[in-house]
Amino acid sequence: MIAEYIVGLSGLIAAALFIYSLKSMSSPVTAVKGIVVAGYGMLLVVLASFFSIFNVSGEAASHLPINILLAIIALVLGGVWAAWKGKRVQMTAMPQMVALYNGMGGGSAAALAAVELLGGRYTSSLSLLIAFLGALIGCVSLTGSVIAWAKLDSRLNTYRYSQQKAVNAVLFGLTIILGLIAVINYGPDDSGIFAILFYVGALAFGICMTLPIGGADMPVVISLYNAFTGLAVGLEGYVMDSPALMIAGMVVGSAGTLLTVLMAKAMNRSLSNVLFSNFGDSTAQSSADTEQKEMKSVDPADAATTMRYAASVIIVPGYGLAVAQAQQKLYETVKLLQDAGVDVKFAIHPVAGRMPGHMNVLLAEAGVPYDMIFDMDEINESFPNTDVALVIGANDVVNPSARSDKSSPIYGMPILDVDKAHEVFIIKRGRGKGYSGVENPLFFNENSTMVFGDAQAVLSKMVEALKALKGV
Ligand code: TAP
Repeated sequence: MIAEYIVGLSGLIAAALFIYSLKSMSSPVTAVKGIVVAGYGMLLVVLASFFSIFNVSGEAASHLPINILLAIIALVLGGVWAAWKGKRVQMTAMPQMVALYNGMGGGSAAALAAVELLGGRYTSSLSLLIAFLGALIGCVSLTGSVIAWAKLDSRLNTYRYSQQKAVNAVLFGLTIILGLIAVINYGPDDSGIFAILFYVGALAFGICMTLPIGGADMPVVISLYNAFTGLAVGLEGYVMDSPALMIAGMVVGSAGTLLTVLMAKAMNRSLSNVLFSNFGDSTAQSSADTEQKEMKSVDPADAATTMRYAASVIIVPGYGLAVAQAQQKLYETVKLLQDAGVDVKFAIHPVAGRMPGHMNVLLAEAGVPYDMIFDMDEINESFPNTDVALVIGANDVVNPSARSDKSSPIYGMPILDVDKAHEVFIIKRGRGKGYSGVENPLFFNENSTMVFGDAQAVLSKMVEALKALKGV
């Protein structure tokens, strides 16, 4: 009885820790603490699970067949591998890693459901139906996330063929039918063949659904699968009679759903558009006639000198800054400008980079104080009164076609109004397009000047030039 109470209380405390950690993650100042708190919550649940195996018996005991040795080996292997990987992962490879871990969550939920669906012992029809739903969602999340990982890691290309949507729809329908037959047939005499076929179908559907989605859309898809995983875990929590699992699943599910909606909104795209529209194709067109136009360019030292004598500079970082890992050099440049009396601010677009908060994390890594960083809504009206906007490896998030060109695939996406600044410098390597694959008329504007080169190299030259001006 006391053991049961301890296990129940641990679940409640862990749930409170998860919710608190999620709240902490809403600000970069407290986000790291939030992650640590969630880790403690997870540790508590794991310890409570082992405690319950040895101390809780009868009705309240977990009805999972447990091999303690295998469970401990799995925990140690998984824990050591995750710690090693987590320490080594590059910031630009973070979405891939999240995809993999997320897939494992979905797979775990599906595995739990398999114990229910293939167990052959008595269980209520409602439990079976919920286990079936959790298995379906968990399987899709598992294989879909693995495909997303492979695409983001450049191990797999987008694969499309005619009638693909119809084939996927048929596969989905068949999978549902197999699952329902498995639930109806369930019993001690059931061979489990329909449940196995249902699993094969659900795993295959995750692959087929994700294969045609463009690599650049993967962050939104991963976030969607994250929501799926949470839902699957929550459903299995109900089946396993585990409140901690239910709450953790619901927290992950709702956070993933909100994140998916926010990302889609910040890109001005519906979820169906992300899933079914082949966005980012090389065929994407806008009527921006930029092919024949010339871009002006300047060398890094001249651009640095102009900024050194400006009163105000707004810096707009984008995906290219993350690719170049130039955040430290950027902050060095900023400090030299500040020493010269320039008012410097950072403007962050909600979907700059390739994952939520990408730019905030980069800038925090370099030690940029939070009070220098402004969200799009806070800073957009300052551009007309700003001397210089410095765009570093950003493209779509500063593309004015989004405001004016109805034929552009990014029309309607809110952007940072850098073109309204008195002067705009854009650091990028060449004429490469952004994620959406459309041209950016900003680069050809009268008040725009390109500073060609890798962001790291360009900023290093700017630092040299600013130091020379300072007489260091
Ligand atoms: P992008 O539109 O992808 O543009 C990045 C630019 O960086 C490219 O034009 C590229 O031009 C330049 N670049 C790449 N490597 C560079 C380097 N080493 N040095 C200097 N420049 C480099 O980036 P963005 O403006 O940040 O926009 C993000 C896009 O991703 C948006 O369209 C958004 O909708 C999408 N997206 C974001 C998210 C999240 S949550 N952040 C999720 C899904 C999709 P060059 O090749 O010429 O150098």
